[in-house]
Amino acid sequence: MTAEPLPHDELRPSSSSAVTVLFLHAFPFDRRMWRGQLGALAALEREVRAVAVDLRGFGAASSLPRVTPPSIDALAADVERTLDALGLERPIVVGLSMGGYVALALARRAQAKLGGLVLADTRAGADSEAARQGRAANVERARAGGGAAVFAAMRPNVFAHGAQPEVVDQLAAIAADQRAEGVIAALEAMRDRPDATPWLASLALPTTVVVGAEDALTPPSEAELLARAIPGARLVTIPGAGHLSNVENAPAFDEALRAAIERAG
Ligand code: MLT
Repeated sequence: MTAEPLPHDELRPSSSSAVTVLFLHAFPFDRRMWRGQLGALAALEREVRAVAVDLRGFGAASSLPRVTPPSIDALAADVERTLDALGLERPIVVGLSMGGYVALALARRAQAKLGGLVLADTRAGADSEAARQGRAANVERARAGGGAAVFAAMRPNVFAHGAQPEVVDQLAAIAADQRAEGVIAALEAMRDRPDATPWLASLALPTTVVVGAEDALTPPSEAELLARAIPGARLVTIPGAGHLSNVENAPAFDEALRAAIERAG
């Protein structure tokens, strides 16, 4: 019996020789944060099969049961089942922030099934004690007001100076759609994630590390550490962007993505 894939949007090429890209969203959002990238890939001359999934607990995957205890590895297992169910051939996995944690966990459990990585605005390290305390405060916020309340607390640190109000509103609307249960499970999973740093040296996939120049949550200094620890990784800094670099400066992000596709494929 084939497992059910995660809910997803898909860009389908007409040729079977297309390169494949899989998008993993940040917290507390869903697959809609990648709409711009799906549009940009559709406009490329090169044929691309692209899939953007909702991770368990978010978007249309909010009805999936909670895994106990929640873990980033369990989210990666869902994604691995999705690769198999959809027949995604060695995709370039693009993960932003929480999506990057899941991408690293996926690479750790199924590196041979992947064709490359784009790790955006993310880190390999585990939560610090201060970050763990911040998770507890966000669990309380989520209980009181779901994704909207968590986003409201994150918002001052998420965007670059001068971010476009329509971009901020678009992300606020996606966050407001997320249910408390899924948001809390993700907070617990992120809080308890292991330090992936010791394993990075064994990563043998073409990897691009992307970071918003004004990312205050996973700053460029973190991205440099990540890129240095992964053999052969390239680092791309996105000007005029904070933590959500794919929506804050989509043209520059799309260019980095296009280069990563050329490199991997
Ligand atoms: C995200 O954008 O996914 C979050 O900032 C990740 C985190 O809270 O560690």
